Amino acid sequence: MMTAPPNQFDAISPTAMLVTYARQFSDIPFTTELAQLINIPEVFEQFAIERQEDILLLAALFEARYKAVDWAIAQSESKQIVELASGFLPRGMVMSQNSDMTFVESDLPAMIQLKQRLVAQIIGEPSNLYFKAINAASQPSQLPVGTDYLRESEPITLLCEGLLQYLTMSEKRQLFANIREMLKHYGGVWITPDLATKQSQLQIEEHSTPSQRLHQSIINTTGRSLVDNSFNDRAEIKQFISEQGFEVEECSLLDVVDRLTCLEILGGDSENFDSVLGTRYVSMLTLK
Ligand SMILES: C[S@@+](CC[C@H](N)C(=O)[O-])C[C@H]1O[C@@H](n2cnc3c(N)ncnc32)[C@H](O)[C@@H]1O
Repeated sequence: MMTAPPNQFDAISPTAMLVTYARQFSDIPFTTELAQLINIPEVFEQFAIERQEDILLLAALFEARYKAVDWAIAQSESKQIVELASGFLPRGMVMSQNSDMTFVESDLPAMIQLKQRLVAQIIGEPSNLYFKAINAASQPSQLPVGTDYLRESEPITLLCEGLLQYLTMSEKRQLFANIREMLKHYGGVWITPDLATKQSQLQIEEHSTPSQRLHQSIINTTGRSLVDNSFNDRAEIKQFISEQGFEVEECSLLDVVDRLTCLEILGGDSENFDSVLGTRYVSMLTLK
């Protein structure tokens, strides 16, 4: 029997387990339950983690970006949310507790099937929480337009956290085009913390020996370099956004540093992370 060739993006999927391992050291709901369902020894081996303290900087970054994205979602007041590259993010489980909300989780087919099974084990099957297989960077677009699970008359909020760093510039352009098409149809906003400079990626890579090891293991796993796929500087990010037909407002990840709980759990000092979080932003993008 013929099997489908592996998708060029599938090699990125194991990084979702790394984020899930790191995010459990926070007060974000359901992160412990989700981490209990993944294979931690496999994560340690694949990502060259020797001790849980090795993950402290990434844990702070992942917690900060989750909380900053939540802050931005609250500003948009949207009642229908489509999350791209959901991985094992718990946001759909949290937000679907509000019955007015329609929340669509999406990822590559194998990942979203697994996610749906894990979510069902933890909270059951809320009728306002959907799971869709979507390659966010495909051409033609797989993003939902005119589907029965989204209300035509209401704007949407699109989310994407932890994907763009892996995409080449041409893949990013395709993703922007797909999102542009969807926002043209529904109106609304796209929220992402993923538009990073090479300098901000290097800061993480060069932070410590465990960070260097971890980043080399991410390259080995995904075949993609987070530094090479980042922007030269913030001016280039702004220019790229504008060329793709968007306007942007930003908030700094530093704005949530006081709310990081992983530092208490893993024993870190927030001052060590201020310089890293200070180069990171959540972007709120709307069509020009
Ligand atoms: C670093 S993980 C982040 C997962 C999640 N957003 C989080 O923050 O925990 C990257 C995710 O991107 C997904 N992914 C990779 N390429 C994708 C694509 N072309 N379209 C949609 N999802 C993709 C992977 O399957 C994986 O779940």
